[in-house]
Amino acid sequence: MGATFLPIVLHLILVHANLVLGGPIANGGSWTYGFVKAKALVSQMTIEEKVNVTTGYTGKCVGFTGEVPRLNLTAVCLQDGPAGLRPVRRASQFPAQITTVATWNRDLIIAAAVAMAREFHDKGVNIWLGPTTGGPHGRSPLMGRNWEGKYLNGVASYLAVKHAQEEGVVTCAKHFIAYEQETFRNPFNQTEPYSVFPPLVQSSISSNVDDKTMHEIYLWPFAEAIRAGAGTVMCSYNQINQTQSCANDPALNEMLKTELGFQGAVISDWGGTWDTESSANGGLDLSMPGSAYGGAFGNFFGDELIALVKNKTISEARLDDMAVRILSPILHHQDLATYPQPSFDVRDLNLPTNNVRRDHYKIIRQIGEEAVTLVKNNRAGGRGLPLPAPSLMSTLAVIGEDASASPYGATSCGDFGMDCANQNNGTMTIGGGSGWAYPPYTIDPLAAINAYVRADGPGINQHLENWDLAAAAQQASRSETALVFLNAYAREFEDRHNLSIYANGDELVKAVAAVNPNTIVVLHVAGPVIVESWIDHENVTAVIIAHLPGPESGNSLIPVLWGEKSPSGKLPYTFGKHPSDWPPNTIVAHPVLEPQADFTEKLLVDYKWFDAKNIAPRWEFGFGMSYTTFGFGSLSIAETFKPDTTSIQPTHEPFVHIQSVGQQGRSLYDILYTASVQVTNTGSVRGAEVAQLYISFPPSTGQPPRLLRGFEKLDLAPGESKTATFELTRKDVAMWSVPAQRWETPEGVIGVSVGASSRDLRSHASLAVF
Ligand SMILES: *[C@@H]1O[C@H](CO)[C@@H](O)[C@H](O)[C@H]1NC(C)=O
Ligand SMILES: *[C@@H]1O[C@H](CO)[C@@H](O)[C@H](O)[C@H]1NC(C)=O
Ligand SMILES: *[C@@H]1O[C@H](CO)[C@@H](O)[C@H](O)[C@H]1NC(C)=O
Ligand SMILES: *[C@@H]1O[C@H](CO)[C@@H](O)[C@H](O)[C@H]1NC(C)=O
Ligand SMILES: *[C@@H]1O[C@H](CO)[C@@H](O)[C@H](O)[C@H]1NC(C)=O
Ligand SMILES: *[C@@H]1O[C@H](CO)[C@@H](O)[C@H](O)[C@H]1NC(C)=O
Ligand SMILES: *[C@@H]1O[C@H](CO)[C@@H](O)[C@H](O)[C@H]1NC(C)=O
Ligand SMILES: *[C@@H]1O[C@H](CO)[C@@H](O)[C@H](O)[C@H]1NC(C)=O
Repeated sequence: MGATFLPIVLHLILVHANLVLGGPIANGGSWTYGFVKAKALVSQMTIEEKVNVTTGYTGKCVGFTGEVPRLNLTAVCLQDGPAGLRPVRRASQFPAQITTVATWNRDLIIAAAVAMAREFHDKGVNIWLGPTTGGPHGRSPLMGRNWEGKYLNGVASYLAVKHAQEEGVVTCAKHFIAYEQETFRNPFNQTEPYSVFPPLVQSSISSNVDDKTMHEIYLWPFAEAIRAGAGTVMCSYNQINQTQSCANDPALNEMLKTELGFQGAVISDWGGTWDTESSANGGLDLSMPGSAYGGAFGNFFGDELIALVKNKTISEARLDDMAVRILSPILHHQDLATYPQPSFDVRDLNLPTNNVRRDHYKIIRQIGEEAVTLVKNNRAGGRGLPLPAPSLMSTLAVIGEDASASPYGATSCGDFGMDCANQNNGTMTIGGGSGWAYPPYTIDPLAAINAYVRADGPGINQHLENWDLAAAAQQASRSETALVFLNAYAREFEDRHNLSIYANGDELVKAVAAVNPNTIVVLHVAGPVIVESWIDHENVTAVIIAHLPGPESGNSLIPVLWGEKSPSGKLPYTFGKHPSDWPPNTIVAHPVLEPQADFTEKLLVDYKWFDAKNIAPRWEFGFGMSYTTFGFGSLSIAETFKPDTTSIQPTHEPFVHIQSVGQQGRSLYDILYTASVQVTNTGSVRGAEVAQLYISFPPSTGQPPRLLRGFEKLDLAPGESKTATFELTRKDVAMWSVPAQRWETPEGVIGVSVGASSRDLRSHASLAVF
């Protein structure tokens, strides 16, 4: 104990010399209006009233703060989740975020955020518990919640936060930070399938991450969410360096509230608070769910916080800061006199509630369509995709349980969508857990195909389960073309145990391909799966990854299958050929009392690992084919200094100027360079290409070979050309210096490449920095 005590004391003196214990006090930043109102309101409150603002109670929403009736302050309502209102009825199920980013279309990322924010607003939710910003980030392909988030976390989080808050809903960027496995995420037996010790005996998993990796990989997307103005941040279940994330002074007070200058509130994930005093001083502002759920998640803050403030263990200034941090973004974005009250009650979901879906099915459908990622297409002999016009087809087999509706219906699989015998019976539109949302209806692939071909199309031969291979083969052998639908499920509370396709899927494809010369596979998967046992089969002519498309699943596929639209999705993660292609042991499952996850692969997450280790993936990050072809012109780069206009809440990230460029700038997000390249549709049908920009730091820096630093999706008629432009900020060309504790651009030549995927780079240029 003594050995660790001294450095901690020194650290507090050095780093917090000008701060009260418990970290920096908010000044509101650009939320001037909300901050002034919050300060004035909190200054009238008693200690008991202030504590009420910081503590969860039982109520209508999954998170519900105490009220302050004397000052007419009603409860703050917090509700799941990143793909729509859970488990509330008469709301939309949106595509999983992994699907939305597979479109690589900023307009659709914005459209989804705006649509969701309107639904949350109209249901009376003050804080939307989304977007999933970067915990998980995708360190392990098995992580049960990767599908909730995205690899393009930075760009997508910025856009989702900014545009949702413009609709008046306060966002919650989650889960902070380095939350990369479900296994051992909680220190007690919460009925997680991996529980091995009695309640409260085992520590939660500790993510041990070095400072450089933390900044360049895990903190990066949170910086984007914070500067977009995220009102709240959810701390995660795991520990960081052996301290709970929700009581982690270096993570919350230093990185989040000082370095990123975060002015809003840190909210614990439900059950992520383990102690009142260390959490309050470690940077937590709102303990959720507090005393709700009969105290099943512990009962922190509340009376204990009142006592700790009264006997001065926690300063009243810290308590004021908590309440101000919670209320500032809410009062800035919401007029509580007119903001809707919750129109539902999670304690009785059958009570009548308002419908908030509008015509959001159109956005849902378009996201699913633009996310469709074509990864194999063999047109030899007129096979593969697109399919011929329905009138020219005689027979089409539709095979697999994933092709048709769930036998369980919309509302019988429980409030996390995981209570059914086998969650992937029927087509898979989303994963399970708190990131799930009810599908009010599902247009499954078979239903959409039947509707599309009904006037003049082929006879449909269907076989809708995965185990009777002889019956499946019989239908396939009677058909010109066979569509095989497969899936792989993932959910909160548990990591995937393998990268296999679910429910006998590999055997099903092989049985169909043995008898059908035009076998087309559609995958609804929560992350990468191994396809090696059939991918090179001569009769498997095309493969589509349709991700987790939400309730318009079938409608999203039809235009691409029949060539009304060219596929334009690109993989937001890498498909390997073997589980051993990924870094080893990234899910720690060793049943010890204090499980430790050492992030030894450091910066080499996903494609960066495959590139650095020279491993040939099955399909690389950024890959996706079209029905047309695209040419790339030469890449030009110019110094085009533009001061930052995008930081709604400026961060305080330290950086050093590049001598030659932009000395007048003051932000890490000033634009230093603009790159541009002309992209031409060189084929014969309309299509959209995602031009992707990757940078390569000088090899002496030891950085990963390539890093995505820009993308633009261009929709092009045959023969048409458009220019893709990429604005590179100071941060885009910087690395985190551990000794200097700041962002620095290395001297030397930085390579810049643009292409159609992370491994299909067509045009190159460089920047010389000195
Ligand atoms: C705290 O909130 C609870 C629950 O809404 C309420 O019953 C109680 O009166 C509040 N306490 C104070 C001091 O306002
Ligand atoms: C609370 O609302 C009531 C009724 O609208 C009003 O009379 C009262 O002045 C309000 N109190 C405060 C402190 O705003
Ligand atoms: C964990 O909880 C489950 C469900 O309550 C129970 O069946 C199991 O015995 C518990 N395991 C341990 C080790 O306590
Ligand atoms: C975690 O520990 C590593 C290794 O000592 C250190 O580099 C890093 O800054 C620490 N991070 C946090 C958030 O404490
Ligand atoms: C302050 O109050 C807390 C909670 O009641 C108690 O555990 C702690 O011992 C008290 N500390 C002092 C210095 O009185
Ligand atoms: C769901 O699928 C499993 C096998 O994957 C099967 O045992 C079960 O009967 C199916 N449930 C229904 C309702 O079809
Ligand atoms: C993969 O994991 C799933 C879910 O745990 C399990 O049902 C399946 O049998 C496993 N497949 C293989 C090939 O081990
Ligand atoms: C491909 O399909 C044809 C039926 O059209 C079959 O005769 C052939 O054996 C299949 N190829 C393989 C490798 O199974």
